[in-house]
Amino acid sequence: MQRKVKVPDLQRMKEAGTKITALTAYDFPFGRIVDDAGVDVILVGDTLGMVVQGLDTTLPVTLDEIIYHCRMVARARKRSLLVGDMPFGTYQVSVEDAVRNASRLMKDGACEAVKLEGGVRMADTIAAISSVDIPVMGHVGLTPQSVHRMGGHKVQGRKRGNAPGGRNRVIEDARAVEDAGAFAVVLEGIPPDLAADITEELSIPTIGIGAGRECDGQILVLHDVLGLFDDFTPKFAKRYAELGQAAREAVATYVGEVRAESFPDEAHSYMLRAEGGSAREGTGAKRRRAAAG
Ligand code: KIV
Repeated sequence: MQRKVKVPDLQRMKEAGTKITALTAYDFPFGRIVDDAGVDVILVGDTLGMVVQGLDTTLPVTLDEIIYHCRMVARARKRSLLVGDMPFGTYQVSVEDAVRNASRLMKDGACEAVKLEGGVRMADTIAAISSVDIPVMGHVGLTPQSVHRMGGHKVQGRKRGNAPGGRNRVIEDARAVEDAGAFAVVLEGIPPDLAADITEELSIPTIGIGAGRECDGQILVLHDVLGLFDDFTPKFAKRYAELGQAAREAVATYVGEVRAESFPDEAHSYMLRAEGGSAREGTGAKRRRAAAG
């Protein structure tokens, strides 16, 4: 196993020009696969609401649900840095609430850092959480928890100027996240040249999703990467496998074999053993052979 990834490693990677790899994961088997593959950061994201729970938005996801999934991933991962997402409503009400809920992700969810969405408006919250030694990853640009304000999952920073959603707003948000003490920031759904400018200006690492290749690292939703989620695939979500289709074919083959009585066969059955230890056929197998003539 390569050395365990720790929060300060991401800063060193930015400085060395080594790209940071990040993916989401939500349970033990996929946490193990992602960790084994050498991904630096695993995010237990509130996207679990959409790709695991089948919701239309991330808004209904609760802190207890994120903690439940973090614990599963924490048991699986050996090397990756584990970041827990703060769900909608768990950090916006008050700074005290935010610190309490971030602490729960660390204590109960076994996370090593938390992530929350928002820039200028969340600066005090990021500062308060960071001040109690909980590392915070920021998230600016397209922030899915603001889906209703934005009128959908809309690309941000396309227009020049200070208007809401404009380029300057994204830059100000990214600066605010760094100034508040975050150790890294996710840049989501912004044009590549804007992400490149922010990455150049900030001293903390930027991790892009739909933000071009100039960021210090990249993150994607695992279920998009593996082709497990078909409801909606954003333009930036490259599918590296078609596991959904493979799973459908496997299940259909199983159904066919059960109906045709070709499963379970002897290789998948506990046969009676003779005194000497040799296997004896069960009555079902004898019956099938007799029927086959
Ligand atoms: O919740 C999530 O999975 C995220 C990533 C897409 C960055 O915020």
